[in-house]
Amino acid sequence: MGFKTLPGTVYLFGHIKSNFMGKEMMAIIVKRLYEKTSEPFIGFYALMRPILLIRDPELIRHILIKDFSHFQDRGVYVNEKDDPLSGHLVALAGEKWKGLRAKLTPTFTSGKLKGMFSTLVACGSNLQNYLDKLAEKSELLDVQEIAASHATNVIASVSFGIDVDAITDPNTDFRKYGRKMFSPNIQNSLRLILLTCAPKLMKFLHIKCVSADVENFVLSIVKQNLEYREMNNVTRNDFFQLLIQLRNTGSVESDGHDSTIKSNENQKTLTVNEMAAQSYIFFAAGFETSSSTLAFCLFELARNPEIQNRAFDEISRVLEDHGGEITYDAVSEMKFLEQCID
Ligand code: HEM
Repeated sequence: MGFKTLPGTVYLFGHIKSNFMGKEMMAIIVKRLYEKTSEPFIGFYALMRPILLIRDPELIRHILIKDFSHFQDRGVYVNEKDDPLSGHLVALAGEKWKGLRAKLTPTFTSGKLKGMFSTLVACGSNLQNYLDKLAEKSELLDVQEIAASHATNVIASVSFGIDVDAITDPNTDFRKYGRKMFSPNIQNSLRLILLTCAPKLMKFLHIKCVSADVENFVLSIVKQNLEYREMNNVTRNDFFQLLIQLRNTGSVESDGHDSTIKSNENQKTLTVNEMAAQSYIFFAAGFETSSSTLAFCLFELARNPEIQNRAFDEISRVLEDHGGEITYDAVSEMKFLEQCID
């Protein structure tokens, strides 16, 4: 299309062969490409797919803000018809993304987060009990595994509305399938690379975004949970409740009572598959990101004891001001802790 392209392209693989071979992560490749030029924008190939790498901050601002309406699609694989879990917020495009995004935005208000906070605290107490026992015995910890189990508990609870304890039961279904979704095996690597670099080929080859057992697990748990809540009139302060509300009423109030109002089947504005896709992406996008962030943060704190002590002192001081209770407001005051996480 007349754009300059970086040298070093390899037939079929473009500039990302080392990623395809499992040797380098995509972010490292993009960073290297970014540093190879001083052009405001330049082309490269992800497999056969041409990508425009934007370097100029002013252009980036235009794309992400001013002219966003022309650039809203991520351009990744989505195939709602044959692969129901692919129809989620990260992959959907055009009007469908825009509509769903607008409807789901109220689920991210601080009011909704506050509503879910007691769930986070309950998961935190569970984690604390576990760590206390290990600390008493001065045992070594596998922080990555502990962070993954804790993140699993939190996301299973807020996203699917199901209480699990992956800390004491490492083989609980959510942990088992979470591990499966992210295990760096050939199938997952291929899925991920096709999803972003060759979405049409993925559709053509009927490759789904998750393996069959993960798909069955997510679809069945969402169906069971929905039936259970509707039949027993059960409500919970969680993301799943907001999806039920959206399905039945077509909207989510930014701050209001979340109820299980039922509506006729033909009045539903969200299908069970659409609900499952959103629950799935909340699990997939929320689990690995937050668990890795937590694990890296704890690792860095262990390597920097003086920073760890400052974070510890801040937590103690703020909690004392809040009567020893972990509340949403107390956590918001922990600025140094937030800096450590960032
Ligand atoms: C450290 C934690 C996290 C990081 C680093 C992270 C990173 C990102 C990034 C880079 C994007 C793409 C933004 C864009 O294209 O403009 C994104 C989108 C998204 N993330 Fe996260 N995320 C995190 C946690 C979570 C959690 C906990 C959830 C849900 C429970 C979540 C759900 C989503 C969703 C649904 C989108 C798509 C939003 C849309 O298209 O409207 N993420 N995230």
